Amino acid sequence: MNELTPDQIAALQTKFLAWYEQEKRNLPWRYNHDPYRIWISEIMLQQTRVDTVIDYFYRFMEAFPTINDLASAPEEKLLKQWEGLGYYSRARNLQAAAQQIMTDFGGQMPDSLEAIRTLKGIGPYTAGAIASIAFNLPEPAIDGNVMRVVSRLFEIEADIAKPASRKIFDEKMRQIISLTAPGDFNQALMDLGSSICTPKTPQCSSCPLQTFCAAYQHGTMEKFPIKSKKPKPKDVYYVAGIMENPQHEFLLQKRAASGLLANMWLFPLREVSQGEFDALKNETELDLFAIAEEAPTIFPEYDVVWQKKVIGEVTHVFSHLKWHVLIFYGRTSKVQLPPKNAVWAKKEQFSEFVFPKPQQKIIASWQKYLQANNH
Ligand code: ADE
Ligand code: SF4
Repeated sequence: MNELTPDQIAALQTKFLAWYEQEKRNLPWRYNHDPYRIWISEIMLQQTRVDTVIDYFYRFMEAFPTINDLASAPEEKLLKQWEGLGYYSRARNLQAAAQQIMTDFGGQMPDSLEAIRTLKGIGPYTAGAIASIAFNLPEPAIDGNVMRVVSRLFEIEADIAKPASRKIFDEKMRQIISLTAPGDFNQALMDLGSSICTPKTPQCSSCPLQTFCAAYQHGTMEKFPIKSKKPKPKDVYYVAGIMENPQHEFLLQKRAASGLLANMWLFPLREVSQGEFDALKNETELDLFAIAEEAPTIFPEYDVVWQKKVIGEVTHVFSHLKWHVLIFYGRTSKVQLPPKNAVWAKKEQFSEFVFPKPQQKIIASWQKYLQANNH
């Protein structure tokens, strides 16, 4: 690991903050230092790109202008605002933390790192970001982007995939962070990581930190950060049934109150083995829109005549799982009562439900199929 002298660190800070002042992106959570806005933006930005977050951020702030509004919102309304962003536990944790702030901190975001850390869903990164950006405290905010930049600056050999490496980056950051403008310093690192010091072929020729950067001096930018591979997400296989009744309603099923995609709505899904998945995918004939005599059994429990051909396939990757979903379409001959935790709904009503990404993909695939087949 390389070291910089105190004079070099002071020069780095001056240069970097001047660069940030010139180049900083105009983002809605940078208009002021309101801790609530900083908090919401940092949670949204954790697994989602800046471009996507901007619209969600505006709508969220309009729907829940204060911490109190968030604390008392109905869950349906909250999830609706989060629809499509993914990692829905983030939204649930936000609300739990908002309730903590109302009961334990008089409705104000607490202004110390220790107190911020007690809030649900706030880990070391988010706490550091709120403390530095909203309260001007010299706390590092270390995420993958920051580790990439800092590992290059100092040629840090620690494996960034290992939780134990955090400490090394934390210590390094405490040596270099600006004590007068820590929030800007942290955000400068975020901006540099997303625009210049990118994962592949960093643009060192336009980097304000070039003269301080050990990796640049030794031509080792491509070697850093050192990162061991995560295990691949586990494959799981499903069939999804788009079932239509004579009133042109479709069956939607609500997921359990806990676990993945809790309380969200999808067409009924049944987990199948990879073998059954492959068989269903390949057996079904290319006889478009023919209702088959010996149609496949998609859901034995429903009285449905299935179209024989699979109408689409979608995949969706969660953190540890990869869903593979085969989509089937079928009709019921009469109007049936919905099973428990399910409803029949018309297409026009779909916007009232909270649909997770995989359901949105299934609907898109179905619409594409209908268009391709002139329906
Ligand atoms: N990514 C995470 N936090 C950010 C912030 N405050 N500004 C820009 N990008 C970010
Ligand atoms: Fe990253 Fe290159 Fe700048 Fe070093 S000089 S911080 S490797 S962009």
